[in-house]
Amino acid sequence: MKTDICRRLGCEVPIFAFSHCRDVVVEVTKAGGFGVLGAVSHSPEQLERELRWIDEHVGDLSYGVDVLIPGKYDKDAEKDEVSVENLIPQEHKQFVAELLDQAGIPQLPPDEARRVQDYLLEKSRNSTPTGALKLLEVAAQHPKVKLIVSALGAPPAETVARFHARGILVGALCGKVEHVANHREAGVDMLVAQGSEAGGHSGTISTMVLLPQIVDAFGGTVLAAGGISRGSQIAAAMAMGAQGVWCGTLWLGTRESELSPYEKAALFKAKAEDAVQRRCMTGKTVRMLKSKFSEAWEQPGAPKHLMPPLQNLLYHEARARIDRAQRADYYSSPAGQVIGTMSEETSVRQVMHELLHEYADTMERLVKMASAG
Ligand SMILES: Cc1cc2nc3c(=O)[nH]c(=O)nc-3n(C[C@H](O)[C@H](O)[C@H](O)COP(=O)(O)O)c2cc1C
Repeated sequence: MKTDICRRLGCEVPIFAFSHCRDVVVEVTKAGGFGVLGAVSHSPEQLERELRWIDEHVGDLSYGVDVLIPGKYDKDAEKDEVSVENLIPQEHKQFVAELLDQAGIPQLPPDEARRVQDYLLEKSRNSTPTGALKLLEVAAQHPKVKLIVSALGAPPAETVARFHARGILVGALCGKVEHVANHREAGVDMLVAQGSEAGGHSGTISTMVLLPQIVDAFGGTVLAAGGISRGSQIAAAMAMGAQGVWCGTLWLGTRESELSPYEKAALFKAKAEDAVQRRCMTGKTVRMLKSKFSEAWEQPGAPKHLMPPLQNLLYHEARARIDRAQRADYYSSPAGQVIGTMSEETSVRQVMHELLHEYADTMERLVKMASAG
């Protein structure tokens, strides 16, 4: 199972774990896979602290960092003199406030509301190109970071060249074969072909259809993402030309994941069809857990979604209220269709063990099938 990308990055098996949780990143990496920390939810200072912690706990192994570099975003939000909060129309603020008030979800106490708002404003520019590049500069100072990955668009060619000069590989998520040329032009080393089943920002083409198209068009290293939670699916992805897999949703249910018990319970209750594509989180299409909050934005008369990072700020302010009240019926967070296969808390070690075990069984079965003919 050790493919070329494992040799280049120094991992044992090509199972990549995307996670916002540092413990997941460390545990996957220590179990032989390759952990990639989602940096978008951290300010540059927080990211520095998180990476220092990972460096201390990961031993001699390497890991990656992921950022969002959107092609379309609110350009005013990049200006230092502009407060992102002031760019959000009153109509949108009122819509969210009324929705939560009518649901009986209490407002945050004033001190906490101020703290949450300061925190959210501090990180609100992370999902603009300038903000993402600041995070990448932090990542570049950590020698164990051997891979950086960008989602939502090709990273700028100068950025790719800068990381190559430091011996860091550059990857990018790709949901459409038409985008491969841009990534190739930018000099990206590895593509993550992410199908529509995936949690988080996702397109419309399923992994089964997308993956072989991207393998053919890119000609280099491709990982499969979206809908992968079993070893047999890893075998299928490798059969279609992937050099490995990239999973996100699967780790949410592990004890290393920082989700609270109320969040995990909501995920474990959900079926595959409860992971729907909606725009209420960032203004772009995100596959997320369906709730009364996500569905309210789909009703006639709901305001039109804002662009990143404005919609993100609205969503996270609402989430702070929903989480404090532990209102699972209004809880919507990114999750892929594989949530339908997750029913209880596991551990990263257990997940890795099961993936590898089933992969080996599948390969054995396929070899037997082929030789029986
Ligand atoms: C909770 C969550 C948050 C995500 N946030 C990001 C992100 O910030 N950047 C990114 O590149 N991908 C993000 N993704 C997508 C993952 O990188 C990955 O492609 C996807 O989860 C794979 O499909 P799966 O969910 O079926 O495993 C996120 C996924 C989840 C579940």
